[in-house]
Parts: sequence; C-alpha cells; structure tokens
Amino acid sequence: MGMQSVVVACGALALCLALTTATNPGFVVRMTQAGLDYARQQGIAILEKELAQMKLPDFSGKSRKVRYEFSRLRITSFHLPHSQIIPISNVGLQVSISNAFVELDGDWRVKFHFIRSHGSFNLKVENVYMKIVLRLGSDTTGKPTISTSDCSARISKVRVRFSGKLGWLYNLFHRVIESKLRKSLEGKVCDNVAKSVQNELQKQVQTLPVTARIDDKIGIDYSLVAPPRATAQSLDVDLKGEFYSLAHRSPVPFSPLPLAFPSDHERMVYFGASSYFFNTAGIAYHKAGALVFEITEAMIPKKAGFILDTSAFSAFIPQLEEMYPNMPMKFRLSTPTAPFLTIGPGGISFQPIVDAQAYAILPNSSLAPLFLLSLTGNVSAVINVRSGRIVGSLDVGRIRLSLKDSAVGHFQVQVLQSIMNFLTSHLILPHLNARLDKGFPLPLLDRIQLSNILVRFHQNFLLLGADVRFQPRG
Ligand SMILES: *[C@@H]1O[C@H](CO)[C@@H](O)[C@H](O)[C@H]1NC(C)=O
Ligand SMILES: *[C@@H]1O[C@H](CO)[C@@H](O)[C@H](O)[C@H]1NC(C)=O
Repeated sequence: MGMQSVVVACGALALCLALTTATNPGFVVRMTQAGLDYARQQGIAILEKELAQMKLPDFSGKSRKVRYEFSRLRITSFHLPHSQIIPISNVGLQVSISNAFVELDGDWRVKFHFIRSHGSFNLKVENVYMKIVLRLGSDTTGKPTISTSDCSARISKVRVRFSGKLGWLYNLFHRVIESKLRKSLEGKVCDNVAKSVQNELQKQVQTLPVTARIDDKIGIDYSLVAPPRATAQSLDVDLKGEFYSLAHRSPVPFSPLPLAFPSDHERMVYFGASSYFFNTAGIAYHKAGALVFEITEAMIPKKAGFILDTSAFSAFIPQLEEMYPNMPMKFRLSTPTAPFLTIGPGGISFQPIVDAQAYAILPNSSLAPLFLLSLTGNVSAVINVRSGRIVGSLDVGRIRLSLKDSAVGHFQVQVLQSIMNFLTSHLILPHLNARLDKGFPLPLLDRIQLSNILVRFHQNFLLLGADVRFQPRG
C-alpha cells in the first residue's frame, strides 16, 4: 500500500527518485507569518528590556578649547514601536526596526579657559533604524540554533538638553557630543542585540524536546533532520518524528512519505504528523510488548450477566464441559505484527489484527490453552490536541472473528460474536482510550501554550493548526 502511493504521488521517474532518496521528515512544524509576527512581538519586548539595561561608557574630550567629560550615562527608556519580520530563504529571518527612540540621562562637566561647570543632561535619540538578520540552523544533537548573522543600527537624530545655565557653552560643542553619543549607541546596540539573541532566543529554541520520553519504555525523536527552511510565507522545521523503544532502538523498515502541506495560514503554527510518525509508534509499542492485554474474570462488570468460565462458554463449545469442567477462563490479547495505519483526506484508517488466546485456569493455576481467535475490524480515530499533547480515541466497527487454532475441537466462531463485541466495547477500547487520552507530547518550546486548535486529515498526514501563547517567566 505504501509502495502504491509512492507510485501515484510521482508521475515521472526522475521525480520519483528524488522523492524516495531524500530524507523526508516524519513530522513538520510550520510557523506562518502570523506566528512569526507573534514571535516578533515577544522578542521585541525582551529586546526592549535588554537594551534599556545597556551600559554606555563614560567619555571625555576636547572641542574648540572646551574640555568636556560625560559620565554616569543611564538609559531611561528604549522603545521599539515599529518592527517587521520576514523569512529569508537559505538564511532564516530578518527583523527590521524603524523609528525606535531612546532616552538617556547623565552628568556633564566642562572646562573652558577658566570657566568650570557641571550639571546633568537628558538625551533624546529618535529615528533609530535597525536591521537584524537571524541565522537558523541545527546542531549535532538535532536541536535548533539561532544566531545573529548581521546587524546594523543607524541613528539619524540626537538631541541633547542640558539643565543649568551656560547654554552658550553647550552650543560650542553640541555637535561633537551628539555625534559621539550617536556612534557610541550605534556600536553598542548591535552588541546587545547579539547578546540578547544568544542569552534569550538561543536558550529558548534549545528547549525543543528533541527526545521526548513518554514512559519507561518509549520515546519520541523530534530532532531536526535539516536546518529550518524559510520560504516566502513561512518557516518550516523538519523533524524526524519517530517513536522508538528506549531499550532497543532499531531502524524503521519504511521511510516517511513527503508531506504536501496546504497553504493554510490562518493559524500561527501548523503541525504535520505523518503516517510514519504514527506507524513508528505502533512498532515501538509492539516491540516493547505494550500491546498485550489480559482479560480476567475480575474485570467483567457485574451487569454483563455472564461469568468468564468454561461453564458459560460450554454453551457454545460443548467439548469444554468435558475437558475443563467449571474452570475460570482468561483471554490474552496481543498483536502478531505491529499495527499499521494509513491517513487520507477521509481520516485515519486502520484494520488492526488482534490475537485473542483463551485459556482455562487449572486448579493448580497453570493455564491450558483452549482456542485462538483472530479479531479484526475497521477502527476509526478521533484526534484532538489538549495541553500541548495529541490525544485521541478509537472506535471500532463490526468485529470479524476467525478461529486460528483450537485445542477443544472445531466450533462456529460466530457464536462468540456478541461476547467479543462486549469485551471490545467494555474492556479493550476503554483501556486503549484511557491511554490515548493521556496523549503524546507535541514538539513545543518551553512556556508555549496552544489554543484555537484545528484538526484536518490530508494524504499521508494529520494536520494540526493552533494559535500560540507564550507564558512569560515568573
Ligand atoms: C497442573 O495440573 C495439570 C493437570 O492436572 C498438569 O498437567 C500440570 O503439570 C500441573 N502443573 C504444575 C505446574 O503443577
Ligand atoms: C472495513 O471497511 C472496508 C471498506 O470501508 C470494507 O470493505 C471492509 O469489509 C471492512 N472490514 C471490516 C472487518 O468490517
């Protein structure tokens, strides 16, 4: 079935080769322009705080016989009211800031011939323009990286106001002072941007859980398979998207198919979870022995009106009465092979095969195998996102039974249909759904919350859309 869809997906041989040799991601995270704008707002707020704490050095000099000294320079506010973010192909992101303004104050001291004076001053810097290019990449552990690859700052207007008398004195050298302060600021701004990117942004993107431990047996590998890809409208991050057994990781016997993302852009972020992602979960859980479930007498609800023992079953299988009279029974369900699902526009389709081995429990507690049934049915899945996790629930259509083996002679399996329906809907599905309701973590950075969830099915993948909220620290 996988092969067939590869053939259908690519008409020409050349394209087919390209599709099958590239490492496709098993999971894709797309940030749309709306998401990038939200990230920009959050980033700018952090940058404003960082820049407001910027330290400017004291400086002194001499101009037209005026000896001056400026000290205790302190920024009182740094505002970045206008900014823009755009994805840049092969690099990452460009942030442009315009009409930013800064206020700072400090002390001045001058000496002009025999005149000495000092006081404080206030400086208003307007029309600050900044261009910051952020390079996105991935490190050897598959975590995203972000750094400043280019930064420039330009200030076109500086106005100093001195308090105190001696305004005439100020006129002698204000141009020099303004130009020095402008240069000092222009130089410092980019240093602080780089520091802010390193200390805040890089730290934040490195919180991507590239190995998400799910329980004591299974993990998800969310490492980047390539550096983030910027396109004109979005930023795509290709992740491995593979479940694995913590004890014995082994290669997956099939590859992810390409994900044809739709051009939706209403939500800030979209997640594409491929059928590969889900099928590696099936393999990992199957290998870990987690897809085994036992049904014993104690689990049958009283209201069911039947007892899980050989007397009850002998109504359908007469040999039981003679071979194992009045003994409790149990079923052991397991999957002979890992379950395999396909995803298409209509949803997830899934026909798992389950072996149900019936046992009689002998008086000395050992188990006597009675018969082995094979169960199958069409399973439908409802998927949602809750608390940053993919959650789901399964339902099954009509169950089809067949007899694979019997130690108690041949019998018509149809006679067990209603019992198996009952066990499936009252025990097996609730057990599975309780686990699926706990969900599996999405690859989210720290302090990110999702809302406004959208769930859609496409060929080979599940598309989840969401808006994002960043929870500030503290
Ligand atoms: C339990 O009883 C069965 C039948 O009486 C016998 O075949 C089996 O060996 C016993 N098993 C043990 C562990 O004693
Ligand atoms: C599952 O659905 C398909 C088509 O939707 C149908 O042909 C098939 O018989 C169904 N299988 C079972 C076990 O009901």
